[in-house]
Amino acid sequence: MKTVGFYKKTIGERRRILAEGGLLNDADFCILENSLSLQTADKMAENVIGLFQLPYSVAVNFKINGKEKIIPMVTEEPSVVAAASNGAKLCLPEGFATSSTAPIMIGQIQVVGLKNANSALREVLKNKKRLLEMAVGKDSTLVKLGGGPKKLDGKIIKTKRGKMLILDLLVDVRDAMGANAVNSMCEHLAPEIEKITDGKVRLRILSNLAVHRLAKAKAVWKKEIIGKDAIEGILDAYEFAANDQFRATTNNKGIMNGISAACLATGNDTRAIEAACHSYASWKGKGKYLPLAAYSKNKKGDLVGEMQLPIAVGIVGGATKTHPLAQLSLKILGIKTAQELAQILCCVGLANNFAALRALATEGIQRGHMELHARNVAIAAGAAWEMVDKVAAQMAKEKNVRVERAREILKGN
Ligand code: MEV
Repeated sequence: MKTVGFYKKTIGERRRILAEGGLLNDADFCILENSLSLQTADKMAENVIGLFQLPYSVAVNFKINGKEKIIPMVTEEPSVVAAASNGAKLCLPEGFATSSTAPIMIGQIQVVGLKNANSALREVLKNKKRLLEMAVGKDSTLVKLGGGPKKLDGKIIKTKRGKMLILDLLVDVRDAMGANAVNSMCEHLAPEIEKITDGKVRLRILSNLAVHRLAKAKAVWKKEIIGKDAIEGILDAYEFAANDQFRATTNNKGIMNGISAACLATGNDTRAIEAACHSYASWKGKGKYLPLAAYSKNKKGDLVGEMQLPIAVGIVGGATKTHPLAQLSLKILGIKTAQELAQILCCVGLANNFAALRALATEGIQRGHMELHARNVAIAAGAAWEMVDKVAAQMAKEKNVRVERAREILKGN
């Protein structure tokens, strides 16, 4: 696809490029104009009184497992889409290599009021086969698709309110995010578990820390392209984050900039992904909060970036089905499974992290960021649409991006 200089094109030109590449048709053009209807919105959440719109963008230059990918992203933050596109461009021509594990989610069942937690666990495990069969009965469609409940295990936790038995139901949820399937199964098993344990079941809910549902992405940034100094700078930046939680938090926020924007564009639950990734950052460090992506140098002296994340996204239910733009995003991405989507999100996060670290470790992010931010400031100062870029460019040139300055420039024009 002819995406060179994509950011300099008009909206119409950008749409035409995607149409020429076979990603958009006339019906999609209508969706891009009209997006979500109020009627649909009213069915999606409660107490709706309007629509809150955000920019719908696409990141370009992504090559994933040898295939070119255009990535829809929804974000209010300037620089995020540019950073993703830039990070992806600099690892071409190879691009990203990805993989993932099976889409296994964990459902948790909490049992309290036990006389003997250890023997309660033993009894549950004795009945494991029967309980799993009961769970299968709750979602036969999932089973037909090759998914369904796979394993039942348990642990005992000691709390201020006594020992509790926590049962983990592992379910392969295929192309769903999985919350509904898993929660229904846990609720369905609860009465039988109470009978077996002679305890009281309290919570029956999915865990967002989907450590069995991992997406992995890897890319190599060559020293001939990004320069040796940038590689050393990124390795220093990585070590900073690996040894300081304050830096690791911001580092991971930058990763989630890309992941959440692409996740939202597909109508998936961004809070679930945020919770999972941040929790994973300390789970993998056994309590120490770590940067989500890791960097090293290979034998050739090139930079290798790798990331593995629990990304529980779906492509079959909820807003992914009801929001017209979410459907369009899945079409633009050209994916057939939730696992592919998770892998793409992982690449976007890695691209964003690489781009942020490269900028931070070399020239700093303010120049690039301010140029983009200046447009928002110009709009805030009341610039008419045709004046926005002019006022923004002037402020960026002067390195003086403030609403007062934008107003002065506007007065002088
Ligand atoms: C800003 O939204 C994200 C960054 O702060 C990420 C980072 O510091 O790595 C630039």
